[in-house]
Amino acid sequence: MNILALETSCDETSTAVLKINNRQLNLLALNTSSQIKLHAPYGGVVPELAARRHVEIIIPLIEQTLSQAKIKPSKIDALAVTGGPGLITALQVGVETGKILAAIWHKPLIPVNHITGHLVSSFLSPRQWFVAQQKNTWPAVALVVSGGHTEIHLMKSINRWRLLGRTLDDAAGEAFDKVAKMLGLPYPGGPAVAKLAKSGNSQTFNLPRPMIKNQDYNFSFAGLKTAVLYSLKKYSPSTISHQLKANMCASFQQAAIDVLLYKIFKAAQEFKTKTIIVSGGVSANQELRRQLTLKVNTLHPTPYTLLPDLEFTGDNAAMIALAAYVISNNGKNLPKYKMTWKNLTADANWELWN
Ligand code: KG4
Ligand code: ZN
Repeated sequence: MNILALETSCDETSTAVLKINNRQLNLLALNTSSQIKLHAPYGGVVPELAARRHVEIIIPLIEQTLSQAKIKPSKIDALAVTGGPGLITALQVGVETGKILAAIWHKPLIPVNHITGHLVSSFLSPRQWFVAQQKNTWPAVALVVSGGHTEIHLMKSINRWRLLGRTLDDAAGEAFDKVAKMLGLPYPGGPAVAKLAKSGNSQTFNLPRPMIKNQDYNFSFAGLKTAVLYSLKKYSPSTISHQLKANMCASFQQAAIDVLLYKIFKAAQEFKTKTIIVSGGVSANQELRRQLTLKVNTLHPTPYTLLPDLEFTGDNAAMIALAAYVISNNGKNLPKYKMTWKNLTADANWELWN
């Protein structure tokens, strides 16, 4: 089946056409327009500006994606849209656009939880889609680590999962962004911190590993961020050298990685999972990827590791299309979605409890 998906939950406008059945996955087109330049002067996403830019760009982007996919609207079997969580003004643009298209094209419209998108994003390459079909891939433990979310789920299969724990305050990506801001690094902070950390010494600052000793799977990153703030306060701004910043980036990054890896490996062992999945914007972090791979190889039996291709770590509509396929029971429930789209509203706080 062919799915046209829209994603506008934050600061990326993204549209994709995915051709998919149980055996084959073919991403016919994906276009993601980033708003980084628009928000950079403010050091963070400005919801009203984000929504306006989504409005300006979404229709041309849909046209471009259909044209690249060489597909006519009549050949689209279903529409999919991110319904939440996210910035409400931004989400509404995608949801209302989806509803208009569903009305004029007479198509089912599948609302997708943004986290579900990240959960399945590792399966977007054809080889990894094949892996999803294998019985011995499951159960899997999946860490979604992004700017808005840090959650661990136990996945029994690609469409059955259970929340094990999540951050009680800031998301890991949010902490990267805030630490970057404290150090005067550009927005978005994650890539900037990761880049500077390469020339830093991670042993320089003794930062906390919040909640690492707790028995549960929850996280807290606000305390780590505050510890960075207090460590920096010991210096007058003029004495904060490039090397000191690099050392702080490396120390902070290592503290965040230690907590993330500790919890995911604890879950992997407790639930005897055959696969470890890490996805979301922060999963683009090369040091996190390197240390994850190293640690996985020390376990017996070695779990299979799944990471999204870099183009699918951040927000994108391809993952929303794949999630729509999965939650619609491989398209079997499309008639239901043809009936229900009129009642669809964006939900900024949509919880993923399934
Ligand atoms: O998944 P995503 O694009 O959006 C949300 O759903 O939040 O994640 C964006 C987050 C930002 O906080 C960004 O700083 C972080 O992912 N990020 C990184 C890296 N690349 C992006 N964090 C650490 N290292 C990176 N290389
Ligand atoms: Zn996201």
